[in-house]
Amino acid sequence: MKRGVQRWIVDISAWNFSPSEFTSAMSVLPQQEHSSITRYVKMEDRKRALVSRLLQYAVVHEVFGIPFDKIMIKRTVEGKPYLELDKIGHEFPNFNFSVSHHGDFVAIASEPLCLVGLDIVSHVLPVKETIPEFIEHLSPYFSSTEWSKITNCGTCDNMLEELYRYWSLKEAFVKAIGSGLGYSLDAVEFHHCNWTNISLKIHGKEVRHWRFWHFVLRKRHYVSIAWGHPHMASESYKKALGWIDFEEDEYNMGFDLPDANFKLKTIEQIIPNCLVLECNQSLRIISMVGNFSTT
Ligand SMILES: CC(C)(COP(=O)(O)OP(=O)(O)OC[C@H]1O[C@@H](n2cnc3c(N)ncnc32)[C@H](O)[C@@H]1OP(=O)(O)O)[C@@H](O)C(=O)NCCC(=O)NCCS
Repeated sequence: MKRGVQRWIVDISAWNFSPSEFTSAMSVLPQQEHSSITRYVKMEDRKRALVSRLLQYAVVHEVFGIPFDKIMIKRTVEGKPYLELDKIGHEFPNFNFSVSHHGDFVAIASEPLCLVGLDIVSHVLPVKETIPEFIEHLSPYFSSTEWSKITNCGTCDNMLEELYRYWSLKEAFVKAIGSGLGYSLDAVEFHHCNWTNISLKIHGKEVRHWRFWHFVLRKRHYVSIAWGHPHMASESYKKALGWIDFEEDEYNMGFDLPDANFKLKTIEQIIPNCLVLECNQSLRIISMVGNFSTT
């Protein structure tokens, strides 16, 4: 089961590409994924969308050995991507993954049995309003306990950091269960001890069978991972999972798997070698076409 636990991260600020290199990297993905990348207008957003999809295909390829062009990634109505499991067998009965992109990083986490949710929030300063105004606008998303922690933690910068950290935990949880915007976030209340020993209450009731991990990456990117029991998955996401009802000891097989450290990857490392060759060939073709049209 351990092979199903993957944590990969790409620093996209380190990837400076020409238009042809971008097209070439996109060409390793199935055609149906291309419009979900090119629909973005800003190049930074296209880059995040491309690396997000490359990571999803690369992790599935790593765990199952399926070639990129045979991988079927679908989305629930709420937008959570998932791998169609029925044709794959039961070595990893609930294989699922979660992607996040914010600031300089795009990352993915996968699990074989538990649900997993990942969220990165970078410490962005509000542009059109002051920090207190920005924080105030987000107050409906926090419980009264969280709100008091946020507003009583010191300077504006401290408050913003506290808010972003809670935010990333909440997003990691809703991404794990796949609910998207359909969840009342003020009812999702996190408790922590200096951002370790993190626990969750929903409507004031302690939630068992969930774990949370939170840390800060360089340039103040706050990263949270949530993992827990599939019975909390959204109804649409449950249909995509292989195994939901199990005994405690069966569940613990997945719950007690050691967490893995994030592996920092480059773009070249997430494209399989055979496709790098094709990718380089298409790059050559693109540059030949480019030369031809300009002469
Ligand atoms: C869906 C949602 C969780 C995405 O989070 P985000 O912070 O905007 O963006 P991230 O980069 O972290 O995540 C984007 C990825 O989430 C995944 N995703 C999209 N919808 C999802 C869902 N319903 N469940 C789980 N994952 C989802 C996708 O993989 C997407 O990346 P991709 O399109 O490149 O494949 C978010 O838009 C949302 O619905 N949040 C609801 C909670 C809320 O209102 N929070 C307010 C602040 S507390």
